[in-house]
Amino acid sequence: MPDLFDVVRSQRAHRRFADDPVPDAVIEQVLEAATFAPSAENRQPWVFVVVREPALRARIGDLVRRAWEGGARDHSAGRLPAGMLADVDRGATGGLAGAPVIVVVGADTGDVHPRALEASVFPAVQNLLLAATALGLGSALMTLPLAFPAELAELVGLPDHVRPVAVVPLGVPARPLGPPRRRPVSEKAHRDRYGAGW
Ligand SMILES: Cc1cc2nc3c(=O)[nH]c(=O)nc-3n(C[C@H](O)[C@H](O)[C@H](O)COP(=O)(O)O)c2cc1C
Repeated sequence: MPDLFDVVRSQRAHRRFADDPVPDAVIEQVLEAATFAPSAENRQPWVFVVVREPALRARIGDLVRRAWEGGARDHSAGRLPAGMLADVDRGATGGLAGAPVIVVVGADTGDVHPRALEASVFPAVQNLLLAATALGLGSALMTLPLAFPAELAELVGLPDHVRPVAVVPLGVPARPLGPPRRRPVSEKAHRDRYGAGW
């Protein structure tokens, strides 16, 4: 198993996947890592619906395509570098639906104060992404499908008290990605007061 820091330094958004199957045992390992995340009052309000059914994956893919083609692409066109725009475009117009597994992540609104709800689910999502990377799977945190929350919830049968908060495709990456490009700590960290520098 790779070192934690190597995993952190290689985790990227994968938007295209090979057809190779992903066994349930691997999915369970990834989800178990997710469930070791912290949450407010240890309420663990995360919900994971693991979608394998091809027709259902296609329906989720349609939602993403609709959101992308219905405005998100125009919004992103002037904001993203060309290569990234093309990658997101491929993800939204077939890549997501092409993943052998799509995890719809929900937040149980009955468990946690609204102010802490999403903050109590996204640590689990990050664990999921890191565990997937450690096991050689590609993944991506996606919120585009949330443009149609009611439809997404209905597709996977979420009850009213569970709100969808993210969609994560999982699968063997179609191609390797280079290391993530991130701004250095010195640009993001401050000593004692904002602006004091590092
Ligand atoms: C809150 C959030 C929402 C995101 N939504 C999407 C999405 O809907 N579609 C997508 O292709 N990528 C999505 N991403 C992935 C980001 O584009 C990606 O993490 C970021 O550009 C860094 O790229 P890298 O992982 O290749 O370094 C999202 C990431 C976050 C954190």
